[in-house]
Amino acid sequence: MQLLDGKATSQAIKDELKLAVDKRIKEGSKTPHLAAVLVGNDGGSLTYVNAKVKACEQIGFQSSLIRYDDTVTEAELLAKIIELNNDDEIDGFIVQLPLPNHIDELKITMAIDPDKDVDGFHPQNLGKMMLNLPSFLPATPAGILELMKRNGIETSGKDCVVIGRSNIVGMPLSIMLAKKNDPGNCTVTLVHSRTKNIKKKVLQADIIIAAIGQPGFVTADMVKEGAVIIDVGTTRVVDSSKKNGWALKGDVDFANVAEKCSYITPVPGGVGPMTIASLMINTLQSMELRNK
Ligand code: GUN
Repeated sequence: MQLLDGKATSQAIKDELKLAVDKRIKEGSKTPHLAAVLVGNDGGSLTYVNAKVKACEQIGFQSSLIRYDDTVTEAELLAKIIELNNDDEIDGFIVQLPLPNHIDELKITMAIDPDKDVDGFHPQNLGKMMLNLPSFLPATPAGILELMKRNGIETSGKDCVVIGRSNIVGMPLSIMLAKKNDPGNCTVTLVHSRTKNIKKKVLQADIIIAAIGQPGFVTADMVKEGAVIIDVGTTRVVDSSKKNGWALKGDVDFANVAEKCSYITPVPGGVGPMTIASLMINTLQSMELRNK
C-alpha cells in the first residue's frame, strides 16, 4: 500500500503557483485576491477557511476573511455577495458551506458572479464543466483528479464507485470521472442512501471514492484487493487522547482497508489540502481572465 500524500502534492502545486504569481507580478499584473465569507463559529469550517487564508499568504495572494454571526440574514449575505461581485479588487470569492438553516444555500450560490465563483459551484460553471467548456472546476473533485494524475494513477477504463451524491463532491466528481478526459474515462457507479447492495457494488471497484460523511463507512470486506481508495470524509469525533478533545475521521476504516489496497489517502492530509490547492489554481486563473 502506498499513501497518496495530499499534503505533499498540494505543496508542490503551491510552489508552482508561487513561481507563477511572482512572475506575473514582475510583469505588472495585480496580486490575485481571494475573499472568503464565513458564517458562524463551526470549528470545522473555521479550520478550512483559515487554511485557505494561510495558503494565500504562502503563495503571495491577497486574502480577505469576512465573518458573520450565525444570526446574519439572507438579505445581508446577499448584499455582501453583490458588493464582492462588483469589487474589481476581488478576483474570486467563496462562501464557506454549510450555511445556517435559515439561509438558502442555492440562492446564495446562484448570486455569486460565475466569473468570480472560484469554488466552481454556480450552475453556469457546473454546466460548462459538463460540456467541457472553460470553467472553474469544483475544488474538491478537481483536487482529487489532480492528486491521482500527479501520483501516476491510471483511471482510463477503470471501474469507479463514488459513494455519496452531494452537489459539491459526489455528483460533479462522478461526471468528471466518466468524461472522455485524462484523468477520466472511468465507468462510474454513483451509490447513495437508496442504493441496494452497496457492498457488492463497492467490492467491484478499481477506484473507490468515499464522500458521505460517515466515519469508517468503507470497511475492508467492501474493498477489492489492490483498489485505489480516496477518502473525502472529515468528521470530528470525540478523542480524549487528543489535546483538543477530538480527531478528524475519514469515511474509510483506514487501519484495516490500508492492508488491502494499492493506494489510499490519509485523513487528514489527503483530499483536504488538494481542495485548497484547486481553489488557489482557480483564483490565479480568475485573476488572469479578468485582466486579459
Ligand atoms: N464546505 C465543504 N467543502 C467546501 C468547499 O470546497 N467550499 C466551500 N465554500 N464550502 C465547503
